Amino acid sequence: MNEASAYAPANIALAKYWGKRNEELNLPITSSLSISLNQYGATTTLKEHTQHDYFQLNGHAIEPNTEFSSRLTQFLERFRPHPNFYFEVDTHSTVPIAAGVASSACGFAALTLALNSFLDLNLDDAALSILARRGSGSACRSLWHGFVEWQAGKLDNGMDSFATPLPQEWHELRIGLLLFNTEKKSISSRAAMHQTVLTSPFYREWPQIVAKTLVTLHSAIDEKDFSLLGATAEANALAMHSTMLTSEPSICYWLPETVATMQKIWQLRAQGLELYFTQDAGPNLKLLYLQQDEHLIQETFPSIISIAPWNLQNAQ
Ligand code: PMV
Repeated sequence: MNEASAYAPANIALAKYWGKRNEELNLPITSSLSISLNQYGATTTLKEHTQHDYFQLNGHAIEPNTEFSSRLTQFLERFRPHPNFYFEVDTHSTVPIAAGVASSACGFAALTLALNSFLDLNLDDAALSILARRGSGSACRSLWHGFVEWQAGKLDNGMDSFATPLPQEWHELRIGLLLFNTEKKSISSRAAMHQTVLTSPFYREWPQIVAKTLVTLHSAIDEKDFSLLGATAEANALAMHSTMLTSEPSICYWLPETVATMQKIWQLRAQGLELYFTQDAGPNLKLLYLQQDEHLIQETFPSIISIAPWNLQNAQ
């Protein structure tokens, strides 16, 4: 039990998780479906520490009593072997922190996996996913590569609310990260979700929208119909942002660059390029395209980080 390390990839949802039925347990109102980002994720190393918990992120100590450190401490309470046992948690993330690029998802997933091996817990996949979910909802999808689906579940205790990987692979699929702003976002996804569910008149449509999105995504994945996959993911993200824009007060993560790029994507698509986007709780866009168009997309968006989700030879 000297030390244990684990890696978990970040993930981007094609059918978004937006809204909780239980805020303490991170139980979602709807199911969701994501793609993991291969080598973009978090590696967490755990050791025992003396006197207090100690957290490091990308080589910098996290101040105690910050929101982030209390979230970590709260998560670790479930695992502490005895009250005087303290953890040293050292995380290296290759995705920008708190900018809507799933940094908390991969962070909590890597921490859950590291705890499992550090404490010899031998938990099964469902239990690991349930525990990761308690750190951050979308973390329950970050335990695997490829497509992953999180079943919302029905039970009040959340024991049926966990993710599982889908068997389908799609080697030609690419995800491109276009980062306009990687600073900490103005409102956390947690707070934004809460406010949207309570105040947006559009939120009541959301569960039906996601149910349809999921059915369509499954057939798009089965048939390898990229236009259907891209259009469905893009529409789902825009529907989610519509619930935010119509909440009170309005939540708008969009920057001028976000909107300008959406318009550029629509223009390129009208000219025949198969290019779609999705967007989470931040201003950045995630582009969806196929390997055959990768060069053109890289020329058009020189700063893009292009990811091949199933090209795993370099992944951890
Ligand atoms: O897991 P959280 O609390 O960071 O929420 C994630 C919310 C979205 O990224 C907007 C959607 C999703 O399904 O990942």
